[in-house]
Amino acid sequence: MKLYEKLFDELSSKIEQGYYPVGSKLPSIRALSQERGVSISTVQEAYLRLEESGFAEVRPKSGYYVQTRGEMPELPEVSRPAQRPLEVSHWDQVYHLLNNAKGNGHIALGTAMPDTDTPTLKPLIKSMSHMGALAHDSFLNYSDIHGSERLRKQIARLAVDSGCKLHPDEIIITSGCQEALVCSLRAISSPGDIIATDSPSFYGSTQAIKALGLKALEIPTHPETGISLEALEMALDQWPITAIQVTPTCNNPLGYTMPEERRKALLRLAQQYDVPIIEDDIYGDLFYKAPRPKTIKAFDEEGRVLLCSSFSKTLAYGLRLGWVAPGQCTERVLHKKFVSTVSSPPIQQEAVAEFIEQGFYERHMRRMRSQYQLARDMMIDLIKRYFPEGTRISYPEGGYLLWVELPVTVDSVKLNKRLEDNKISIAPGVIFSASGKYRNFVRLNFAKKPDERIKAALKTVATEVNQLMLEA
Ligand SMILES: Cc1ncc(COP(=O)(O)O)c(C=O)c1O
Repeated sequence: MKLYEKLFDELSSKIEQGYYPVGSKLPSIRALSQERGVSISTVQEAYLRLEESGFAEVRPKSGYYVQTRGEMPELPEVSRPAQRPLEVSHWDQVYHLLNNAKGNGHIALGTAMPDTDTPTLKPLIKSMSHMGALAHDSFLNYSDIHGSERLRKQIARLAVDSGCKLHPDEIIITSGCQEALVCSLRAISSPGDIIATDSPSFYGSTQAIKALGLKALEIPTHPETGISLEALEMALDQWPITAIQVTPTCNNPLGYTMPEERRKALLRLAQQYDVPIIEDDIYGDLFYKAPRPKTIKAFDEEGRVLLCSSFSKTLAYGLRLGWVAPGQCTERVLHKKFVSTVSSPPIQQEAVAEFIEQGFYERHMRRMRSQYQLARDMMIDLIKRYFPEGTRISYPEGGYLLWVELPVTVDSVKLNKRLEDNKISIAPGVIFSASGKYRNFVRLNFAKKPDERIKAALKTVATEVNQLMLEA
């Protein structure tokens, strides 16, 4: 047995026995090499093996830590939405969420905002001010209607990680993923058409369905494997569905990541019934483990999938930078983009392109994935500790959002109202359904590692939940 293998065996069994508790720091490489009288590279090799086998994780500039392994919580049930096309409701609650979750001292537990307070984003800020200072003529004009070629090249390069072979000319830059979704919907549908969606579903896309005069047909969705293909097939048999819209990776809000076989089966179903798929991959690069899952688009050889994404969750949503690879619908989507905003602001595009070119995107993603994974387990532990029995929690394998099912008597709209005085907000479940289902659900954000302030806020939410249960 080689020296590093011996060291790996010893360290891994100490971790298993709790000698090094979960989340604790392991000895530094230098200290361990001196203590054992072995070379630095032997310790490095042993630590690499610990990382690969899921025992340890590296935190930038800090060292190796024992990997947090929260026990999987009890998951929410498979959703059972109304099985007919519906007009989308609850814009008032969406407006409340967007408008209320701000201001000094407010703790917004319900938004889908990433942690932007991280040193790995500094080069991006630098690039933006540098580009701004240039006040270059081209920055004061419209960018190319397709978007910056430099950025599209980088997006095409990153897409290889999700199994996608995209040419930069197949990509259109948009103002966020929201515009990508809206342009896609507009390109393939007419008012009155029916769009099948996973359920619960991101309120931005369902509100787009509403605004375009379309109807949403919510399909039962499993918290681990995603949209039910069996229910979808029955719906395709029964209704004239125009398109299927899904977020198959690190889903918002349910957290599922669809297994590859089911992605392929979904694509086969779309082929069989000849409908396009709008695939929202906005959280895809935040999948905790490598390699990240392949997109449905990766298996699409006929241009049936309109792949939408953005830098809002990976970098910052104030950039308002997204993109769409619309396949067969490229010309139509381009026209919708033109009539929507003509083109997206050039400074952000060039700055993000530079950030990716210089390798900062990958570095930032490595850090955020490990931060979010750690925060997920901490947040789940806190919810288990504070919330009443019967609470169920999603278990996302990427991103930073939890879907929490509260006991049925708890109305999350009322809960949100009561939290207002404490300057806390959650996202009530009703906004994730066309028909106002999921009243006893909330979505919570764990992008920031739960510090004392967040813990106190979570305790307040739990107290109000208990109070609502008593009153019921
Ligand atoms: C699943 C999903 N799609 C799209 C969007 C909209 O993203 P953007 O801010 O890039 O427009 C969001 C934002 O919360 C989202 O969660």
